[in-house]
Amino acid sequence: EYIQWYPGHMAKANREIKEKLKLINVVIEVVDARLPLSSKNPEINQYTWNKQHILLLNKSDLADPEVSLEWIDWFKKNTEIEKVVLFDAFDRRMKTDLVRTIHELNIKEKAQVKCLVCGIPNVGKSTVINSLIGKKKTQIGNKPGVTKGQQWLSTPDHLMLLDTPGILWPKFEDPLVGLHLAWLGSIKDTIYEKENIAADLLKYLLVYYPDELEAIYKIEVVGKNLPEVFDAIAKSRGLLVKGGEYDYARTSVLILNDFKNGRIGRITLERPE
Ligand code: G4P
Repeated sequence: EYIQWYPGHMAKANREIKEKLKLINVVIEVVDARLPLSSKNPEINQYTWNKQHILLLNKSDLADPEVSLEWIDWFKKNTEIEKVVLFDAFDRRMKTDLVRTIHELNIKEKAQVKCLVCGIPNVGKSTVINSLIGKKKTQIGNKPGVTKGQQWLSTPDHLMLLDTPGILWPKFEDPLVGLHLAWLGSIKDTIYEKENIAADLLKYLLVYYPDELEAIYKIEVVGKNLPEVFDAIAKSRGLLVKGGEYDYARTSVLILNDFKNGRIGRITLERPE
């Protein structure tokens, strides 16, 4: 599901999230650990000042572990968010730790901790919800005091989750954010051409992850400029079009898919400051 937002979309999401926030104590905000800022909605803070706020840097299994620690520090220093947690929605131990973290929060009604999972599309909100509720995805009935249409899911660990996540939108004003989300494959390709996206990604990887590039494509990158590295990858993988020219379209898709599937390594696409 690709991100495609319009002003109407955003206004509707805004209304929905405000309605949902009325019902809950704990905001579990999910971002992608590979892009902790670009996948974060900048306006969420104005809604969470009277809530307990947990930030999950999800998909940490795909992110650079060292940079993830830098990001945790950064969020602790630069935001008011109560808890900043590295997360992998498929890791049961991390789920157990998250539940403990939630129960340790300062909440009046300890017996009924009501949570909302929210975030921009594709960061893993549904996966996080499924992980918290365990195998069964059965819905329980409406509880008193809940506005119509909202269902609560109770978890085996005595949490109450709203059954649908809060959908946030990314910070579109920043053109870099669009590019970053395109690297993850979260934005429709019609907005950015694949070859340009791949070239920009490769440029970043050459600066921060040259060893990983050399290892996966069995090439040398030292002293090579961007087009030369592109050619080297195409050559190494035998990606040619008729007439012996390098096939840039297929090479671009290859690089983007290798990145997306974690084959290039654990990579974080933006760094604090
Ligand atoms: P959303 O509700 O926020 O839109 O996200 P969703 O849970 O649908 O997750 C989006 C994709 O991310 C899914 O892959 C899901 O399996 C994957 N994902 C979620 N959490 C994690 C995590 O902690 N680690 C890893 N490695 N992957 C995670 P998908 O359905 O295969 O979609 P896609 O890969 O084709 O985008």
